[in-house]
Amino acid sequence: MDSFQSTTVFWVVFMLSCGMIFNQNAAADNVRYYDFKIEYANVSRICHSKVLVSVNGQFPGPTVYAEEGDRVVVKVTNNVQSNVTIHWHGVRQLLTGWSDGPAYITQCPIQAGQSFTHDFRVISHRGTLFWHAHISWLRATLYGAIIIYPRRGLPLPFPKPEKEFPVLLGEWWNGDVEQIEKDALRTGGVPNISDAFTINGQPGPFYNCSTADVYKLKFKAGKTYMLRMVNAALNQDLLFGIANHSLTIVEVDGEYTKPLTVPVLVLSPGQTADVLVTANQHHGRYYMAAKPYISAPVPFNPFPTTAIIEYEASTYAELSQPPVFPSLPASNDTVYGENFFKSIRSLNSKEYPIQVPQTVDRNLLFTVSFNLKACPSGQLCLGPGGLKFSSSMNNISFSFPSISIMQAYYYNIGGVFSPDFPDMPPHPFNYTGPMLSNPQPEAGTKVNLIPFGSNVQLVLQDTSTATLDSHPIHLHGYSFYVVGQGVGNYDPSKDPATFNLIDPPYRNTVAFPRAGWVAIRWKADNPGVWFMHCHLEAHTSWGMEMAFLVTNGKGKDQTLPPPPEDLPKC
Ligand code: C2O
Ligand code: CU
Repeated sequence: MDSFQSTTVFWVVFMLSCGMIFNQNAAADNVRYYDFKIEYANVSRICHSKVLVSVNGQFPGPTVYAEEGDRVVVKVTNNVQSNVTIHWHGVRQLLTGWSDGPAYITQCPIQAGQSFTHDFRVISHRGTLFWHAHISWLRATLYGAIIIYPRRGLPLPFPKPEKEFPVLLGEWWNGDVEQIEKDALRTGGVPNISDAFTINGQPGPFYNCSTADVYKLKFKAGKTYMLRMVNAALNQDLLFGIANHSLTIVEVDGEYTKPLTVPVLVLSPGQTADVLVTANQHHGRYYMAAKPYISAPVPFNPFPTTAIIEYEASTYAELSQPPVFPSLPASNDTVYGENFFKSIRSLNSKEYPIQVPQTVDRNLLFTVSFNLKACPSGQLCLGPGGLKFSSSMNNISFSFPSISIMQAYYYNIGGVFSPDFPDMPPHPFNYTGPMLSNPQPEAGTKVNLIPFGSNVQLVLQDTSTATLDSHPIHLHGYSFYVVGQGVGNYDPSKDPATFNLIDPPYRNTVAFPRAGWVAIRWKADNPGVWFMHCHLEAHTSWGMEMAFLVTNGKGKDQTLPPPPEDLPKC
């Protein structure tokens, strides 16, 4: 470790230990070094002890801190048997696509005994993002927060909180998550649901044998705290609330918002939010709780995960009362959820301006569907009607190649992918009408070509192909403006008139309404291969994903640089 590196580590440790939150004193052109050792850790929850894959033995993994503009260098060393990659979810990776991390899209996996150093800058983000594994279902245990402070000299757009707490929502399986995915793909049925949801890795007391596994935090009466919320769950949208306390959202997906006070937060997997909470209640103890939010009648674990907020200076009598439980909407209250998502607006201030593309060069409409596919003869399949579950975008169910698409593109290796992912559904139909009689998708490894600098508009359209649902769609390499949403089939002659081109939310993951659509826009100024997928991991396993290939531009700093020398080999 050189001295710069140890200084940075010292600062991080120092900031953590004195609870200092907004580090305004860091040296110019900061580099933040992290060492991520992928290793086995023995972790016990709900009376079940298992060996899971971790970073540095921690579960959840270490927090990465940066100030906007910093360079972040993370050496990832794989000391386990499974292939691993790490993705920096929401980080734009401007001209650093090789550091993005999705397996077989921008890199081959890091194999046992190998290492790969990610090197990127954190630009045009502030707030909370997260990192996670990006291969199979390993992100169930491999995830941690990324905390980004504004560029030095820029004021926070809200009063400085007393203290901040990362609150990472996750899912715990007693079994081996890689095996659960394999079993589901083999049988074609729905994968096993998780055994518990978690807050910072702890389920809280509402599961069998879980009373000891509780995350706790302390509030001082009268102070305001920031919760840095991450939905790191694999397969579940979640509702989150705190008993008797309201939540003021000031940031989502790494961009500040107009303050929005709500009783309950809705977070899809892949979404993050900074919320302010004022300790304005009586002394005592309060639960914070998360439970499933569902848009389709699918199986789910109904029990909430909880953590306990305790007011300092509470009396013994106050502490011996059971904590107060929050009132949360019903899990299927999609009216609450859709209004929630529609209410978020970008801050769009002088210090934190946004730039919504006002015109469009590339007009895209992608259907997002569940499908069913044939059961191989001689096999017993567990999907509906004895078929296998599948999923698709524009009726193409994505097949992962055996080397990464970006390497194949960069080195001109043929036969890995084709550049003909359609701009529009290949066979238009009444997307939200009656269910289709033949919901078979086509398999393929296709990318959609975007010329550098295009203003892209993409409408994501739900379909009733096999079942209507809401899907949190995540784009790599960019954040996008969520300019419009609606129910039914998108109508290009009427719906654009309803778009918000002034202060739409700027996100990296958006859930469209069930039986509806959402329209997003972004400027394609980052060359490379960028994955886009449903952030419900089960749906990605079934093929609900594709990639964009953004070409190089002609100007300076508009070309994808060559891959780093240690980029893993397949
Ligand atoms: Cu959070 Cu492609 O991932
Ligand atoms: Cu989905």
